[in-house]
Amino acid sequence: MSLPDQIAPSILSADFARLGEEVDTVLEAGADMVHFDVMDYHYVPNLTIGPLVCSALRNHGVTAPIDVHLMVTPVDELIADFAKAGASYISFHPEASQHVHRSLKLVHDLGCKNGLVLNPATPLSVLDHVLDELDLVLLMSVNPGFGGQEFIPQTLDKLREARTRLDAVDRPIRLEVDGGIKVDNIRQVKQAGADTFVCGSAIFGTSDYAETLRAMREELAAA
Ligand code: DX5
Ligand code: ZN
Repeated sequence: MSLPDQIAPSILSADFARLGEEVDTVLEAGADMVHFDVMDYHYVPNLTIGPLVCSALRNHGVTAPIDVHLMVTPVDELIADFAKAGASYISFHPEASQHVHRSLKLVHDLGCKNGLVLNPATPLSVLDHVLDELDLVLLMSVNPGFGGQEFIPQTLDKLREARTRLDAVDRPIRLEVDGGIKVDNIRQVKQAGADTFVCGSAIFGTSDYAETLRAMREELAAA
């Protein structure tokens, strides 16, 4: 079952000194949701932002969905904090939770949509027994930790396989891809089965976000 395409700019590549303004600008430019990368310098070798920044964006007036991507371990405490801070989606890496099914349920119990994030080397079989619990599957097309890395081409085959698995479920589950997506390859990524596209440097690294988003939508429409 397919869902409408959504583009989710990753604020990791935004100017943090002007974050509220950057998020307003990219949403006015036509972005669908805000991708919010949380790194703990433990699960990944980088350190970013936490729930305080998420509530700050809500208090600033951001009403678009906030797509929280947890690259932290453990996950359960932060799930609760992000639910309170106004997250819409909360996704985590299965390797970072002791009890994946419990963490997925926790996200639902707290009123958010859940997601499981698969690293490039994580097999799709981690989805086998939890598909019924899932709202979103996020395939990493780079190793997590940094913006601006190259798209790993093997992700395309993995996406096709993931699409087949998700299509077998009689309820829509988002298939999101994160890392190295730009105007040049977004069409291929959609053709391989993705419906949700995280783009950091490819949007925030340009001077006209609306123009970049327009070019991306044109590519998606041609897929
Ligand atoms: C990497 C993050 C990504 C990152 C993507 O660990 O999960 O969301 O911001 O950045 P780009 O689009 O520049 O590869
Ligand atoms: Zn991310």
